[in-house]
Amino acid sequence: MCGIVGYVGYRKAYPIVLKGLKRLEYRGYDSAGIALLNGKINLYKKQGKVAELEDFIIGKNVEGTTAIGHTRWATHGEPNDRNAHPHLSQSGELAMIHNGIIENYASLKEDLLKKNYAFKSDTDTEVLLNFIEDIYKNNGSNLEEALRIALKRVVGAYCILLIENKNPDTIIAARKGSPLVIGIGKNEHFLASDASPIVEYTKEVVYVNDYEIAIVRPDELTLKNLGNEKQTPFITKLDMELDAIEKSGFEHFMLKEIFEQPKTIFDCLRGRLNAEKGNINLSGIDKYLDAICHAPRIIIIACGTSWHAGLTAEYIIEETCRIPVEVEYASEFRYRNPIINKGDMIIAISQSGETADTIVAIEKAKEQGAIILGVVNVVGSSIARISHTGVYTHSGPEIGVASTKAFTGQLAALMMIAFKIAHYKNTISEERFLHLCNELAEVPEKVEKILQQNEIIKNIAASLKTSDDALFLGRGYNFPIALEGALKLKEISYIHAEGYPAAEMKHGPIALVDEHLPVIFIATKDVYHEKIVSNMQEIKARKGKVIAVMNEDDNITPTLADAVIKIPEADEIIAPVLNVVPLQLLSYHIGIARGCNVDMPRNLAKSVTVE
Ligand code: AGP
Ligand code: GLU
Repeated sequence: MCGIVGYVGYRKAYPIVLKGLKRLEYRGYDSAGIALLNGKINLYKKQGKVAELEDFIIGKNVEGTTAIGHTRWATHGEPNDRNAHPHLSQSGELAMIHNGIIENYASLKEDLLKKNYAFKSDTDTEVLLNFIEDIYKNNGSNLEEALRIALKRVVGAYCILLIENKNPDTIIAARKGSPLVIGIGKNEHFLASDASPIVEYTKEVVYVNDYEIAIVRPDELTLKNLGNEKQTPFITKLDMELDAIEKSGFEHFMLKEIFEQPKTIFDCLRGRLNAEKGNINLSGIDKYLDAICHAPRIIIIACGTSWHAGLTAEYIIEETCRIPVEVEYASEFRYRNPIINKGDMIIAISQSGETADTIVAIEKAKEQGAIILGVVNVVGSSIARISHTGVYTHSGPEIGVASTKAFTGQLAALMMIAFKIAHYKNTISEERFLHLCNELAEVPEKVEKILQQNEIIKNIAASLKTSDDALFLGRGYNFPIALEGALKLKEISYIHAEGYPAAEMKHGPIALVDEHLPVIFIATKDVYHEKIVSNMQEIKARKGKVIAVMNEDDNITPTLADAVIKIPEADEIIAPVLNVVPLQLLSYHIGIARGCNVDMPRNLAKSVTVE
């Protein structure tokens, strides 16, 4: 929900931290700030994007080889200069940045106000910082010990970086619930919310665990738990490449990531799907195959676009594996008193692997004996580490806030999981299994063909840019894709859009239809096609504007639709991973036509690490 960067070493810290903030800006961009240590704390912060902070800092003192930086997604206190991070403690001796929410900040603030602390901001972060300073002043201990005492009394989620004036070459960090990666250099260390600010300097990283404190100096990294016991840093090698986080000539990350999908879907299938031999190798789940096959049910837990992948998977798994599937919004599941039986199989779907609601939901299920299978994109992320087993989507870093390539990667991974289980359970014939494997293997090439429709889709988008509302309709496997198409349009162009099962129109929403309302149908060939055509006629009869995603040999739909996007045909189970691509491009081009910031839409952040 925000971007955190820190540097301590021999180089000038400012350019490193500033560039790191730009790489993390997709995680939150309400405000940005940097604090540098150079004999004293020089702190600059400003509402708005990192570029505005950069302009603000021109001509100011940016010396120092230790610095912390933050891009904010506001939770407590509106986006403005005084609520921006870093925050200074009352004494001015400490500066801190924070990702997360301190849930008991109000009671802590009440106690501090009684001790005559004054607050410059409305944030929970400033309360935590002064709570730490108060303990530091009164317990006579060192800052590290004061932090340990404070964190034992804190309720909520945090990743914090703390610097102290009198220790210019030290950053103290701590995490619980919000991610922190530390890059190991020669006489330098890099700290960040994810690896993208680190990868150009080092590929050796440590993923800090919950309840750990890191004391970071140029030539020393010490990890401790809240019991002051040293922990051995577990160093892993990053598999990320620098060019993966650059735009590579595309105008926006979102467009780049849409066009990367033939490759990213291929990367997801590579080494796992062997269509010729009729084999799906998912070593991660082999030892859980019996448990999955005998699970009384599968519960899929996710948020947003990942939840749409889960809903698609429900249809596919129930059809091929004949195992009951329930799809739950993580935020609802975790607060209900859900019935979880030992042996239940949970599939947690998350691009970032850091979504707070999903993390807590699966931790709760794990405690009650469920088996957790993670379908995650970010290697080494919290959800990946909590899960018993899993399948990485290998989509590469997804910088655009709107999830595109990660979604199709999730679908490809979930299809492999479903087909592998169905084959193992013999709930599909060998012939059907081979057919589905071959259909899946053809997806990257078919997506390539769809991307060639980009200009046609751009022209259709131009005709929709002034719409205030839109409806996306699909049936069966395409109903979740209708939901996903609506979410893409909402979050990229700010047009109010809804996804609906096409047959549901008659139960109310058709009242919305008039000559101003665009209705986007996912109308590729499947068992529902004739019904979808009838639904199109119902819309046309009320002067609605019909746009249809259809297969190339469909001669009926063009007679009804005002505009069509023709895409290659695929088995109805496979079709969702193709059908979403035109909708991604449509939302992208409408967003651009409306002058929206498609990579960093208003109010959004890439990874929702707060509840
Ligand atoms: C996707 O376009 C959205 N930005 C958002 O709904 C996202 O899918 C959701 O926050 C879940 O994120 P995750 O996959 O990283 O858990
Ligand atoms: N809760 C803090 C604030 O509102 C941090 C939010 C974030 O994670 O960006 O400033």
